[in-house]
Amino acid sequence: MKIAFAASEVVPFAKTGGLADVSGALPVELEKLGHDVKVFMPKYYSVDEHKFNLEYQSWASPMPIRVADNVFDVHLHKGYLPNSKVEIYFIDCPYFFHRHNLYTDEKDEDQRFICFSKGVIEAIQRLHWSPDILHCNDWQTGLIPLYIKDNYNWDKLFDHTATVFTVHNIGYQGKFSTQTLYNAEISEDLFYHGGRIEQDGLVNFLKTGLSFADVINTVSETYAKELMTPEYSAGMHHLLRYREKDFYGIINGVDYDVWNPETDKLIPYNYSKADFSGKEKNKEELLKKFNMPYQKEIPLIGIVSRLAIQKGFDLVQAALGELMQLNAQWIVLGSGEQKYENMFQALHEQIPRNIGVYIGYNNDLAHLIEAGADIFLMPSYYEPCGLNQIYSLKYGTVPVVRKTGGLADTVQDWNEYNTYGMDIGNGFSFVDYKPQALVNAVQRAIGDYHNKPVWRKIQLNGMNKDYSWKHSASQYEELYKKAKLKQ
Ligand code: ADP
Ligand code: GLC
Repeated sequence: MKIAFAASEVVPFAKTGGLADVSGALPVELEKLGHDVKVFMPKYYSVDEHKFNLEYQSWASPMPIRVADNVFDVHLHKGYLPNSKVEIYFIDCPYFFHRHNLYTDEKDEDQRFICFSKGVIEAIQRLHWSPDILHCNDWQTGLIPLYIKDNYNWDKLFDHTATVFTVHNIGYQGKFSTQTLYNAEISEDLFYHGGRIEQDGLVNFLKTGLSFADVINTVSETYAKELMTPEYSAGMHHLLRYREKDFYGIINGVDYDVWNPETDKLIPYNYSKADFSGKEKNKEELLKKFNMPYQKEIPLIGIVSRLAIQKGFDLVQAALGELMQLNAQWIVLGSGEQKYENMFQALHEQIPRNIGVYIGYNNDLAHLIEAGADIFLMPSYYEPCGLNQIYSLKYGTVPVVRKTGGLADTVQDWNEYNTYGMDIGNGFSFVDYKPQALVNAVQRAIGDYHNKPVWRKIQLNGMNKDYSWKHSASQYEELYKKAKLKQ
């Protein structure tokens, strides 16, 4: 199949979260299955064209693209996803994409991703390449399925193109005033009739993707079920129930070329199931970095996260007093909402020997925390898939999670499953979104940390799990076939 894959972030070019990891890995896996895959992303200011040897596509540039009242000269550059032949095309419009952050809350955020969405389609046209599948991801690409079915349906190139839309996070929908209809050249009829674009009087990019794509999915089975309830759907449950037959859950894979303690180049000591000694040395190294004392018998709890309410930090805040009483050390890496950044900073100033804090984004440190921590905490309120707990499993870093979304699908509580005589417990989880439930789960983990044979078993159960993209990529293959039938 010919597969076009559009996303607003792709590892290693630009990343704010798990979407980039997925977009950097899934296309490569699909190529291994024999497909012809091309990826499309915006050329942000931070994309380093020299480091990645990007080639300017003069033959296709400039592409005049109308957004709101202006026509922009959009340029095209080409690179490759690492260790593959997968081409990645960068949609280059400095006016929109040369900003300090990938995403902004500026007034023209709609225009930025209108430009990107049209840019993807126009680039495909210039490549004279007729994709079987156009796979769109999250709200930034939500208009593409509509454009293919409406604005660009005059072009025979897309006669056999089915569209797929993947929700990585329902919390971000791209909601704009009706001025956006004009900016994006969306027909008012479509907006005012049928409720496929409009939500609460606003133009909703995510809803548009969910309405117009031939098939839709999200990134775990449990999250797919949760999204059909008012509690988790952020207003989309009616639509998702309506489209239930076309809506699937596929768990993300992870890239074990990048996240594997045996080969990870970003950690000082590699280790494996057969020999854990490197893990202990990484712990020492990690604590040293934060000027914290190394105490072999005290578990080190790691957090690597966007500091957003989705991730359960209000719960951590409510439980902070009790959590800090536990006999454990903590290292937190994250950035996001100011109040959580301040909360962790203040805690570090109070008890620097117990908690190390790094506010910001640091990929090397993320790897070292996965390798050096004993326990990994992810108490998310909701979690579409979550990648860090899957990395943790591979690194023998026992996850403590709230049983929701992808966390529920990947972490099996040791006590629960052991009780049933099933030898698969690989972490600890709690259900109620209550401070006490969180504290209890962390306490259970700390308790078992001191029981060495039990702990090693939990670690091994996690390390033996295989979440490589192989499995999930073949599920996407099936999804694409369904999309073709629907189209
Ligand atoms: P989300 O996409 O919701 O943020 P995921 O668990 O799917 O959650 O993916 C998060 C990704 O971002 C992981 O690869 C994680 O290592 C990385 N990450 C998150 N915060 C940071 C940070 N402060 N520094 C480095 N990497 C981070
Ligand atoms: C989102 C979700 C996260 C998921 C990632 C990749 O950012 O919050 O749970 O793993 O996308 O699909």
